[in-house]
Amino acid sequence: MARDGALYTCQSCGAVQSRWAGQCAACLSWNTLVEEVSGPRPPGALTPSKSAKARAGLVFETLDVDTPTPPRLVTGIDEFDRVCGGGVVPASAILVGGDPGVGKSTLLLQVVAAASLRGLNCAYVSGEEAVEQIRARAQRMGLGHAPVKLAAETGLREIMEGLKRDRFDLVIIDSIQTMWSDQLEAGPGSVTQVRAAAGELVRFAKKRGVAVVLVGHVTKDGQIAGPRVVEHMVDAVLSFEGERGYPFRILRAAKNRFGATDEIGVFEMGEVGLREVKNPSALFLNEGGERAAGAAVFAGIEGSRPVLVEVQALVAPSAYGTPRRAVVGWDGGRLAMVLAVLEARCGLGFGDRDIYLNVAGGLRITEPAADLAAAAALISSVVGEALPQDCVVFGEISLAGDVRPVGRMEGRLREAAKLGFGRALAPTAAAGLGFPVFGVGRLADALQRIKDGDFAAG
Ligand code: TYD
Ligand code: MG
Repeated sequence: MARDGALYTCQSCGAVQSRWAGQCAACLSWNTLVEEVSGPRPPGALTPSKSAKARAGLVFETLDVDTPTPPRLVTGIDEFDRVCGGGVVPASAILVGGDPGVGKSTLLLQVVAAASLRGLNCAYVSGEEAVEQIRARAQRMGLGHAPVKLAAETGLREIMEGLKRDRFDLVIIDSIQTMWSDQLEAGPGSVTQVRAAAGELVRFAKKRGVAVVLVGHVTKDGQIAGPRVVEHMVDAVLSFEGERGYPFRILRAAKNRFGATDEIGVFEMGEVGLREVKNPSALFLNEGGERAAGAAVFAGIEGSRPVLVEVQALVAPSAYGTPRRAVVGWDGGRLAMVLAVLEARCGLGFGDRDIYLNVAGGLRITEPAADLAAAAALISSVVGEALPQDCVVFGEISLAGDVRPVGRMEGRLREAAKLGFGRALAPTAAAGLGFPVFGVGRLADALQRIKDGDFAAG
């Protein structure tokens, strides 16, 4: 029986229920409901306040007032600034999420170091590492001279006092899960604590005009641990990703009130921290040698930049009753669709074959324009004919088996030309853009061309 006024918060999704139960009704997680102990409500808080503003009621405003927007804070780490939408917005809060060990602390230490060297007043507050540890790492990365103000602290009260004593431009809190308020009974890392700490820091950011970056660890199911609530409180959510075994790290915006969410920032983790990768195409292409059968270079667009990336397919007889479909870096549903179209419209059978599809370099592509590249890689693997070394591929495939034009075809071809590619297998609409294009109107045309190795100029 629920006690009067007691509330139970799911530690996984943050949903609040008035009764305890073994399973959260919202996210269906088990044993995650915990009674939330909140401080006593100030008397009269539920009745309308008697302030002058409250007596005046709701005040409406017009749209046509020019509010000066303060300039963005450019940190100097271009890949980070671009994902933020062209620098960090003052008086905003950003959540940077990622797996433990992916490099969040390294990235943000480099960001504050660069920003402080550009004259911004920056603080880095760590709840995870000692000051000596952070200092040693910064020195090893050659950032020992950056005028960053460092602190190791987990107590929210001490942190807020410290932050209010100075006039910071940019503050990093690493990580939000380690911060806790002594005014709450809930343990550190609980939803209640994380929400309270994030709430206080976001309010501080808005009130004092400071840009605050909260670091958050991600759980194995890909959610920012515990508090999805934090995602709703901040202005931007960035995720820092990397495939195991690859040095590449990709920063993506999952939400951004001040910019596009399709920009990516590319970094390479090395001996001395993260290196910005200004031309990612070179990374995602297999260097040197003949291109093997089953590989196609996709001319993609990530945010504002064209990126060339190799798509690899392997089609092999299945040893088991149920053939395997394994996809890395692309959408499994999209693969199923392309396979169905290849079967229905081109007569290629995959029923008894295992299929592996991999996007090189650990990149994850989401554009429908990759359809034709995936199909070309699959066809090439099945017929055992390699695509020409200097050929890029792009185009969307419809269920009817048509190859449809995609956005920014000229930009894709320009990037291909820049990197030494000399031809493209692409929608017919891409012909006439000043680049040798083998236009295909239907997927069956692409199959025929790859099978016959028909890529002679003219
Ligand atoms: P870290 O920034 O601590 O990750 P997070 O804060 O996301 O948990 O990065 C830890 C990993 O990065 C660790 O496995 C070591 C590696 N690393 C390097 O390879 N080179 C470096 O210069 C640094 C600082 C870290
Ligand atoms: Mg860390």
